[in-house]
Amino acid sequence: MKILHQVVETVEGLEFLDKIAEPYAAVVGKVVKPRFLRNLLSGTYVGHPLHPVLTDLPIGAWSMAALLDIVGSEATEPAADLLVVAGIVLAVPTAASGANDWSDTQGKERRLGLVHALANSTAVSLYTASLIARKRGNRGVGKALGLAGFGVLMAGGYLGGHLAYSKGVNVNRTAWREGPAEWQAVLAEAELAEGNLRKVELDGVSVVLYRDGGQIHALDSVCSHMGGPLEEGTVSEGCVTCPWHGSTFRLSDGGIVRGPASNPQPVYEARVTDGGIEVRRSPDS
Ligand code: FES
Repeated sequence: MKILHQVVETVEGLEFLDKIAEPYAAVVGKVVKPRFLRNLLSGTYVGHPLHPVLTDLPIGAWSMAALLDIVGSEATEPAADLLVVAGIVLAVPTAASGANDWSDTQGKERRLGLVHALANSTAVSLYTASLIARKRGNRGVGKALGLAGFGVLMAGGYLGGHLAYSKGVNVNRTAWREGPAEWQAVLAEAELAEGNLRKVELDGVSVVLYRDGGQIHALDSVCSHMGGPLEEGTVSEGCVTCPWHGSTFRLSDGGIVRGPASNPQPVYEARVTDGGIEVRRSPDS
């Protein structure tokens, strides 16, 4: 639908939104700083971004409420009201996980994410007003407000879908990166200094090497979260930390110690042969 993409492009170009988005994103970034909260909201503990999963819950509840409001009878009114309440309650963790993800975005994606959040906040407000009207016996008004909320929710959902599926926000950046299954020479052993991160290219992927005593670690150099350059990261206690948003991966197996990444970093096997370093895809990665 060309017109919808044009609307999205218009929103992306609204630079004045940056004045609202930047301080708000900074506040969100501070709130989600504790490791447990960051990992929880990012989906690090479930191995998948949390926000897209949670969005199904309020959307599902409110969709069924709208259905009952339209085709239901007096007997289904309590069920419709319960679904409205469920949607409002479920919107809270959904919004928290979305704000966490959004705080890592920049530029056009950040503007689009802000409008997505504003639309969904408006939907929550309309559903809250709908619930109040229902409880006061104004069922017609309650239904109208609920349906208005549903319409706004769909608009916000469209923008969220655009962010994920057209812009690739929070999509695993290493999903299509497969290194060679066979050993490949990448560097002379003498070129890898102890304690330094060094990026090398092989067979269409880039890998970051790190020598730690007698062992050489090799990880995909592109951060699985949003593509940050791990070769510019920092190493501490056997882990590398991405310079962009602080995701921390174990050098030994690419496992996540700290989000926002929710997918582990692909690891490679490395060995020294005839004074050269060779790398190949790890069968466990
Ligand atoms: S790109 Fe976000 S933590 Fe690496």
